[in-house]
Amino acid sequence: MKKLTILKTQNLKSYYILEVMGKKRYIQAVDGVDMEIGENEIYGIAGESGCGKTTLIKTLFSMIEPPLNVMGGKLYYKIGDEYVDIFQLSNEEMRKLRWEYVSYIPQGSMSVLNPVTKIIESFEDFIKAHKKVKKEEIRKPVEEHLNALGLPTTVLDAYPHQLSGGMRQRVTIALATVMKPKIIIADEPTTALDVVAQRGVIQLLEDIQQKQKNTIILVTHDMGVHANIADKIGIMYAGKIIEEANTIEIFENPLHPYTKYLIGSLPKMGDKSYKISAPGSPPSLYNPPSGCRFHPRCDKAMEICKKEEPKLVEIKQGHKVACFLYSKEMET
Ligand SMILES: Nc1ncnc2c1ncn2[C@@H]1O[C@H](COP(=O)(O)OP(=O)(O)O)[C@@H](O)[C@H]1O
Ligand code: SF4
Ligand SMILES: [Mg+2]
Repeated sequence: MKKLTILKTQNLKSYYILEVMGKKRYIQAVDGVDMEIGENEIYGIAGESGCGKTTLIKTLFSMIEPPLNVMGGKLYYKIGDEYVDIFQLSNEEMRKLRWEYVSYIPQGSMSVLNPVTKIIESFEDFIKAHKKVKKEEIRKPVEEHLNALGLPTTVLDAYPHQLSGGMRQRVTIALATVMKPKIIIADEPTTALDVVAQRGVIQLLEDIQQKQKNTIILVTHDMGVHANIADKIGIMYAGKIIEEANTIEIFENPLHPYTKYLIGSLPKMGDKSYKISAPGSPPSLYNPPSGCRFHPRCDKAMEICKKEEPKLVEIKQGHKVACFLYSKEMET
């Protein structure tokens, strides 16, 4: 059965605008992204460092602060039966959606937990900011939530620095999901953790998704993590999604030359020696290459690739790619 779309974007563009010597510089970090993410799906966003993953998910969370600016395009969330145009909402309307409808786990769990208070106080502050409840009424449901997720309730009386990195990350995820949001957006939640801790975080995200039936958008540069958890993967390159398919299809039948580099060999989870890499280095997003942004690094590049930009098109059911090797024009 086809999943209903819960979040979609149309030609989404968000740039950092910097003033350098009185002149404006546009860093095209997200540059024309179209995506549709299904209900109850774990959608992985992959790509090298600097390709725009964090900027994309901040934009999906509508967390737009200078120097970041939305330059164009649309973002919709399905709320009830309606697709709501998120950039039209007031700050107050968006505030109400945050954490109850959509939650965002930034990279580095310490940015969510208050380092100078016990964990329970982070939960209390968080819940009181969204619901009218008395402090005494908070602990019990929080303990139930931790129990349901298999986390020890003793963490509530600890300070963040007393927990291991893996436990801190899991507590952060528990905090971000305590109000059962429909969409959870997580930025590199397993990065900087050892293999055992990575497994714990992945298992927790899977458990939450099973129990709460929500959608998870997971960003990581680690293809091993995607292989383990994602239902569908979007590969990002230089501000654009250049390939998208379900996880098995991406690993078994990668089409884009860049994706082929990424899938060269499937590493064991947590293998630190494995990094997404292709020859050369990622382009500057201030002045990206013309045509296909991957052309300076692509061993299949043709004349057209320098001049024209390939569109993301569906080559077969559920598998989209932006590359002239596959587009219709090349067949005729
Ligand atoms: N606050 C900022 N100001 C200016 N440029 C930024 C800022 N944050 C990120 N960038 C630039 O935007 C591009 C995309 O960055 P980012 O979204 O963090 O990529 P990723 O998460 O894939 O590593 C990079 O070129 C980065 O240097
Ligand atoms: S469009 Fe051209 S340069 Fe870009 S990935 Fe395809 S073959 Fe390579
Ligand atoms: Mg990032």
